[in-house]
Amino acid sequence: MTDAAASDASSGKTSSFGFRDVDAREKVRLVRGVFDSVASNYDLMNDLMSGGVHRLWKDAAAAKLNPQPGETLLDVAGGTGDMARRYAKMARAAQMRRGGEDASVIVLDYNAEMIMAGVHKGGEPEMSWSVGDAMALPMPDASVDAYSISFGIRNVADIPQALAEARRVLKPGGRFLCLEFSRPTATAIRKAYDAWSFHAIPRIGGWVAGDRDSYQYLVESIRRFPDQQTFRAMIEAAGFSRVTVTNLSGGVAAIHHGWAI
Ligand SMILES: C[S@@+](CC[C@H](N)C(=O)[O-])C[C@H]1O[C@@H](n2cnc3c(N)ncnc32)[C@H](O)[C@@H]1O
Repeated sequence: MTDAAASDASSGKTSSFGFRDVDAREKVRLVRGVFDSVASNYDLMNDLMSGGVHRLWKDAAAAKLNPQPGETLLDVAGGTGDMARRYAKMARAAQMRRGGEDASVIVLDYNAEMIMAGVHKGGEPEMSWSVGDAMALPMPDASVDAYSISFGIRNVADIPQALAEARRVLKPGGRFLCLEFSRPTATAIRKAYDAWSFHAIPRIGGWVAGDRDSYQYLVESIRRFPDQQTFRAMIEAAGFSRVTVTNLSGGVAAIHHGWAI
């Protein structure tokens, strides 16, 4: 357990684990168990949760972050490195056009199983891998140009603490980006998505990955996560400016983007 998580636990803080409230220490342990369990089926999990559309959402998020040559980009809760691979390729393409230094793209995740699955999948020359906690980043203040977290923040036991850490490690003028499941804006989409996620996903997770409970948690954690405007206010409260929200697939997912000014 990290120092941050331990201090949450000792302060008696509670946090959501799916539809249950558990203490923060318990959430850290339970979420780690979920990702230990799904690491080997991770791509399948993403395809199930999003109907395969997560690839397009990740492309849109990477384009919004707009990685540049010479930048240090940190992808927190980076899992198997899906976002970091995109950043490395985009920064290199810009470098080929305009010149400049190599970018440095750090994938950080607290789950070594996920990192190992990512290393096995293969990286890009600009990428490095690190095991660490979003709530206590092992980076100095003002050391990165861009911070991203994709489908990770809803799993973190103390979201304000993770946002404060994002703000701390960003240089002045640095960019913050979060891609996360969110709240569909239209009732018809919400109903269809609820039916798919509550009824189909845990069942398919049980059949395909032999792990219904982990998939049930993942679906419930999406419902417990704050809606677009509530989360935007949390990002502003952490000290970010000009925070924008871009809905994807009618709000099934959303990109929050802000500036450390
Ligand atoms: C759904 S996966 C997303 C992975 C990747 N970002 C992507 O979009 O494919 C969530 C990841 O968050 C990681 N995670 C959860 N809590 C974390 C924390 N406090 N610090 C770092 N990583 C965390 C998990 O280990 C897992 O790899």
